[in-house]
Amino acid sequence: METIRVHPCSSASQLQATAEAGANIALTKYWGNADPDLRIPANDSVSITLDRVRTVTTVAFRADLPEDEVTVDGRPLVGPARERVSRHLDLLRGLAGVSWRARVVSENNFPAGAGIAASASGFAALTLAGAAALGLDLSPRDLSRLARRGSGSAARSVFGGFVLLHTGARDEDAFAEPLHGPDWWDIWDLIVIVSRAEKAVPSSEGHHLAPTSALHQARVARVAELNRQLLDALARRDFAALGQAAEEDALLMHAVMMTSRPSLIYWLPETVAVMHRVQARRRAGIPAYFTIDAGPNVHVLTLPPYRESLQADLRALPGVQDVIPCRPGPGGRIIPNPAE
Ligand code: DP6
Repeated sequence: METIRVHPCSSASQLQATAEAGANIALTKYWGNADPDLRIPANDSVSITLDRVRTVTTVAFRADLPEDEVTVDGRPLVGPARERVSRHLDLLRGLAGVSWRARVVSENNFPAGAGIAASASGFAALTLAGAAALGLDLSPRDLSRLARRGSGSAARSVFGGFVLLHTGARDEDAFAEPLHGPDWWDIWDLIVIVSRAEKAVPSSEGHHLAPTSALHQARVARVAELNRQLLDALARRDFAALGQAAEEDALLMHAVMMTSRPSLIYWLPETVAVMHRVQARRRAGIPAYFTIDAGPNVHVLTLPPYRESLQADLRALPGVQDVIPCRPGPGGRIIPNPAE
């Protein structure tokens, strides 16, 4: 990652920077916290940062603002959503010894409600831009740790390619690290959109429910083994081993969700239809595996020779609204001259 530099717009009354970060798809999931206040995940997770689904965020700390103003995709954030961003900015302000409020303008290049979590790319870009605007000299690891405080999965979006998020006993120990760059392995993630409706229970609330499932501890134990398999599969580029581990943990996580109190069922009938189709294609010899986040849309992992036909096949399923093809993408970065 390049050195963080303050954008030239900064002046005596304004500190400004712009950053970009990609969303990521977790192969093993972050679900449940060891420390909810610090957002320290219950288990390690492995993800792929995606190329096509990205957020660009400008943060301008200003002497004349009475409160933080946050706009996402042209709409002002209010209430708890704005407070969450403000609390995150407070962390950065605390490190820099600056009390100025900020104007934050964030744009996603994927439509809201497309079933792609904007919190990972959003909080990664916010952390990078905010830290740069304040002139904080932080290592990528520290930036990842800070991004985690805003949204757990954002810690991973600081880096490109294939990424491991460590849990840990203390704040300092829970950060992401890059395992392999985006060019290491040409894997496709076909995001199959079956619903654009906002989910009834956001991830942040779901994490709190995880320990109420009798399956939670069993999953946490199993994920440790799946992570070992995944790291090995990545190093050897063994797609079947990667896909099996990813699909198993998606099912484990949803089993935890479904057996929480209250129960969380994020799937729709169309979700299950896509899952069946992926497994049927696999039985027919196509390397395809699914994973699903906290929502009804399905991420289908496959390899380049099968991408086009699989995409067409999934697109033709009843209830499928769109398929967004993504590949491994770069990590978060500062955009030196955003106007260009
Ligand atoms: C199912 O990172 O969105 O996508 O920390 O509350 O923002 P917060 O949660 P978030 O949780 C991610 C949940 C997941 C799995 C994953 O991406 O690891």
